[in-house]
Amino acid sequence: MDNSKIKRYTVTAALPYTNGPVHIGHLAGVYIPADIYARYLRSNKRDVKFICGSDENGVPITLKAKREGITPQEVVDKYHKIIGDSFKEFGVSFDIYHRTSSQTHHQTASDFFKTLYDKGVFTEEVTEQYYDPSAKQFLADRYITGTCPKCGNENAYGDQCENCGSTLNATDLINPKSTLSGDQPILKETKNWFLPLDQYEERLRTYIESHKEWRPNVYGQCQSWLNAGLQPRAMTRDLDWGVRVPLRDAEGKVLYVWFDAPIGYISATKELCNYAKLDVWNPKAEEYYINNFDSDKCGWEEYWKSDETKLVHFIGKDNIVFHCIIFPAMLMAHGDYTLADNVPANEFLNLEGQKISTSKNWAVWLNEYLREFEGKQDVLRYVLTATAPETKDNDFTWKDFQARNNNELVAILGNFVNRVMVLTHKYFNGSVPTCMEITPVDQAVIDELASYPAKISASIENYRFREALSEVMNVARLGNKYLAETEPWKLIKTDEDRVRTILHLSLQIAANIQVLIEPFLPFTAEKLMNMLKNGGNDWEDAGSVNLIKRGHDIGEAVLLFEKIEDAEIDFQIAKLNQSKSTNAANNAVVTPAKENINFDDFSALDIRVATITAAEKVEKTKKLLKLTVNTGLDERTVVSGIAEYYKPEEIIGQQVSLLVNLAPREIKGILSQGMILMAENSEGKLTFVSPAEKFEVGSVIR
Ligand code: 2FM
Ligand code: ZN
Repeated sequence: MDNSKIKRYTVTAALPYTNGPVHIGHLAGVYIPADIYARYLRSNKRDVKFICGSDENGVPITLKAKREGITPQEVVDKYHKIIGDSFKEFGVSFDIYHRTSSQTHHQTASDFFKTLYDKGVFTEEVTEQYYDPSAKQFLADRYITGTCPKCGNENAYGDQCENCGSTLNATDLINPKSTLSGDQPILKETKNWFLPLDQYEERLRTYIESHKEWRPNVYGQCQSWLNAGLQPRAMTRDLDWGVRVPLRDAEGKVLYVWFDAPIGYISATKELCNYAKLDVWNPKAEEYYINNFDSDKCGWEEYWKSDETKLVHFIGKDNIVFHCIIFPAMLMAHGDYTLADNVPANEFLNLEGQKISTSKNWAVWLNEYLREFEGKQDVLRYVLTATAPETKDNDFTWKDFQARNNNELVAILGNFVNRVMVLTHKYFNGSVPTCMEITPVDQAVIDELASYPAKISASIENYRFREALSEVMNVARLGNKYLAETEPWKLIKTDEDRVRTILHLSLQIAANIQVLIEPFLPFTAEKLMNMLKNGGNDWEDAGSVNLIKRGHDIGEAVLLFEKIEDAEIDFQIAKLNQSKSTNAANNAVVTPAKENINFDDFSALDIRVATITAAEKVEKTKKLLKLTVNTGLDERTVVSGIAEYYKPEEIIGQQVSLLVNLAPREIKGILSQGMILMAENSEGKLTFVSPAEKFEVGSVIR
């Protein structure tokens, strides 16, 4: 988009499903980059609305409600609060965090559907859809899983495979299974309204191809969908939770969640602008925070229907098709709306080499992080930006988190600021000294400093946030190098004026860092502002050495960052290991239960505590031991298949449970009189079933 035409920005961040708390993958993939972008735009005094909210409709919510035994409304209320609070605490500066269960949203999504319906956009089709007879329910989207026909992933959903990113129809799945009952579903006829995506294919191709600047992963995925040919897609579902289809003959049907969710961006903007006009807080709507509005300017349509508005969607890679194909087709069909100028989708963030998984509790949950690393929001913001999965999947490790905190934030940024603060207090009583004569060394620093804002801007405006952050850190490196080269602590006795210049310029560097770091680490920028007692500078001021005035009194020096100790990291790793062992235990293959027996069948078994008194290998066999056991009734021989697990000499004296009334039988020429009971795990490993303490032989086990 031609920059000179841009009057305002609408920046959206994917609406998270309210079916669980958010984790570092969400933050790294969507919310931190979106927040950096929005904060940067504000610092540049651009008119921006940063929009988000909870995605509260659809199957993810009803499934969670069923699993927890609560209502869908209770699910969304609980997680809307948890998620909203986490975002707020991490400084994600949405202008509104709305929710799709709101009245405004239902009305907006419903009107949007009706407009398309009245224009004759939808085709109405009766098709066979999967149905679960025992749950008496159609199985849309996540109510059904099966094998993805494209990549073979066995856990693909009815509408999407998260492994290969394909959009699917439930009827495409191989071996479909109801997630409600585990049963194989049947096919049953039902009527739905379809968006004929095939009719928008050429317009979508023109749109996508006019955006060759998009990230290769986004552009490439769009191309492959278009090349595969688009199919009509149902925009309604037979469900009882969501936005009701606003038609007379649509009883029991709601809008497809991926139809209503992106409209959530529009309804949130409406809500924001309504509040802005009224300038009131509406506690009933349970909004978390609304800021940065300008009641004179705000009319929601300007943010959605003007070709002077730049619309940018921040999403994760699993949302690409919905934002680049389906939503644009909906907007084209409607006719009044502007299409996104960019859709910077991140790849996935893994955790310690494994895919983040909610069900396996393989995640760093934001609400837990906030408890365990109090006040260290910026450390996570830093690490997640420095390792952001912008072009490929990336890995978060706790060791790397610690190293980046200790070696970069503490040693580079914190160290520079602290040295400048301490030296200024020590030599000049905390008053910004005057800049005296400028030497070539100083001039080189001034020139280099001046080059950063444009470089960082270019990176941010091209959605390269990792690169941008590393350039900001280079400003701190520049400061450290300057101090190391000029050594003011050595000059103070001989050349105070020189020290004045060095510290003056160093303070200017610190004040520049305060502005340049703000989009990335807002809490640090605020601390720095309080330390320097110097606010009011914006992006356009950065690069200059006039951000802080001579004679100005700075505040006290406080440490920007603290070292993170091994024990804190070990605790986090132990937590993950705990999840790993719980998962392993849960994943163990448990032999299916046998048919019920009656009590008489059980009491016919005569099981006793016995002690092994002798043991030897049965010749020419690998598995068998010949045991002599004292049963309390007698001493007898039992042949047992335990030789791979126990050496004969190890088990003399071992107490065991013995089935004594099993009919004797000959094994390898030896008469075996009874059977030793063993527990066998999923890998076939055996262990004795013994009394918990030494017990009298012959005791009956019942
Ligand atoms: O993937 C998700 O978490 C979806 N809830 C994202 C929706 S984005 C938008 F369209 F609302
Ligand atoms: Zn797949």
